Amino acid sequence: MPVIAIAIVAANGVLGDGEKQPFEFAEDWARYKRVTMGHPMVMGRATHDAIGRWLPGRTTIVVTRDPARVDVPDDPRVDARVATSVDEALALGRDLDETVYVAGGGTVYAQAWDSLDELDLTEVRADAEGSVVFPSIDPAVWEEYRREPRGDFDFVGYRRRSPLPAAGQ
Ligand SMILES: NC(=O)c1ccc[n+]([C@@H]2O[C@H](COP(=O)([O-])OP(=O)(O)OC[C@H]3O[C@@H](n4cnc5c(N)ncnc54)[C@H](OP(=O)(O)O)[C@@H]3O)[C@@H](O)[C@H]2O)c1
Repeated sequence: MPVIAIAIVAANGVLGDGEKQPFEFAEDWARYKRVTMGHPMVMGRATHDAIGRWLPGRTTIVVTRDPARVDVPDDPRVDARVATSVDEALALGRDLDETVYVAGGGTVYAQAWDSLDELDLTEVRADAEGSVVFPSIDPAVWEEYRREPRGDFDFVGYRRRSPLPAAGQ
């Protein structure tokens, strides 16, 4: 039951400035869509606001302390959920699917960190400006098992060296 963080990260670890992310590459977005399609995605309310829409084909679980801030559409094509903690969102995701993606932002990656089995990162070769950063990746904990260079960025997979016990055990 993997819980996987997915992110595009600058060389200096920056994810964004709180409102938007610094990089957009068509190949990265296409891959993001392909790998997350059909799986639940957990994201903070700020990231949901930054995306600006409900992504089709995936259950989106938005974490907020104030559910009234999240505009859940009355649209059967959209599977929109709201959770009031990261743990609640992860539990909801696990109930829905074997694979759960954690889609950020900085506060949600940090709070989900100890529950993550894998990191699916797009590592950009340039720095960016912004105060929202990805947690640091300790090589004693995380094994890089895949790296696919793509010019300006690499698609990189990490997995936890000592697997977490299955949820509920
Ligand atoms: N580069 C990437 O791959 C990537 C991915 C995702 C996001 N980003 C960027 O990251 C930035 C947003 O990240 P962020 O760290 O500022 O915000 P965030 O993690 O997306 O969202 C923060 C919000 O989530 C809710 N939240 C967080 N922890 C909670 C908890 N324990 N219980 C209940 N609610 C909780 C709160 O919402 P309320 O205020 O509604 O209570 C909080 O204000 C943007 O710039 C975005 O573009 C980049």
